[in-house]
Amino acid sequence: MRKNIVAGNWKMNKNLQEGIALAKDLNAALTADKPNCDVIICTPFIHLASVVPAVDAAIIGVGAENCADKVSGAYTGEVSAEMVASTGAKYVILGHSERRAYYHETPEILKEKVQLALANGLTPIFCIGEVLEERQQGIQNQVVFDQIAGSLFDLSAEDFSKIVLAYEPVWAIGTGLTATPEQAEEIHAYIRSVIADKFGAEIAENTSILYGGSCKPSNAKELFANPNVDGGLIGGAALKVEDFKGIIDAFK
Ligand code: PGA
Repeated sequence: MRKNIVAGNWKMNKNLQEGIALAKDLNAALTADKPNCDVIICTPFIHLASVVPAVDAAIIGVGAENCADKVSGAYTGEVSAEMVASTGAKYVILGHSERRAYYHETPEILKEKVQLALANGLTPIFCIGEVLEERQQGIQNQVVFDQIAGSLFDLSAEDFSKIVLAYEPVWAIGTGLTATPEQAEEIHAYIRSVIADKFGAEIAENTSILYGGSCKPSNAKELFANPNVDGGLIGGAALKVEDFKGIIDAFK
């Protein structure tokens, strides 16, 4: 059975002390009032080794926001999947639209990252989603199909079954614009059909597909109520315990 998941993406926010404090506060809040879904926080690399021991692994999983597309060696400034895993982190966001747009991550590069993440025991949270012009042209399904096919179709069914997908319409990220529950459900159902065609109905049924893009406590319940929306990838609202917990509580 697929899991319901609320994952936070801190992006480039919070210094180390602030990040540890946020993780501890979230841990306290969720220890006092246990979540009905899996909860993950994805933090900047430098926070990982401190945040992992600051939270109860039974309640909060920790992940990175990226990893290198190379195993190791002379790649100044890069952080490998093995290094991420060595902190105790269990997840890694890959293919976020900001990485695709600002750091020129192509489907081919992301394919390497996904394979290295899996080889090191990390669960990729693989992001897909169209930009506004593509939605206006009505080609969003083709865009997400190409993103999935370009990076994930080479995986074995067994490896694919370890992946979490996050549909994030780029026009909704950090803009305050949210996909309507109908728009989210429509494309999530399409994404699940793509997985079913390629990897089989059972794997498609068991894949968690998260929605991301201006998700907040006031709209999370409506979005997550859709049969094909299995939770959220949360940016801005993951930076405050009250907001993040409000979204987690949408599953109560
Ligand atoms: P947002 O970001 O919730 O701030 O829109 C979501 C994301 O980029 O993962």
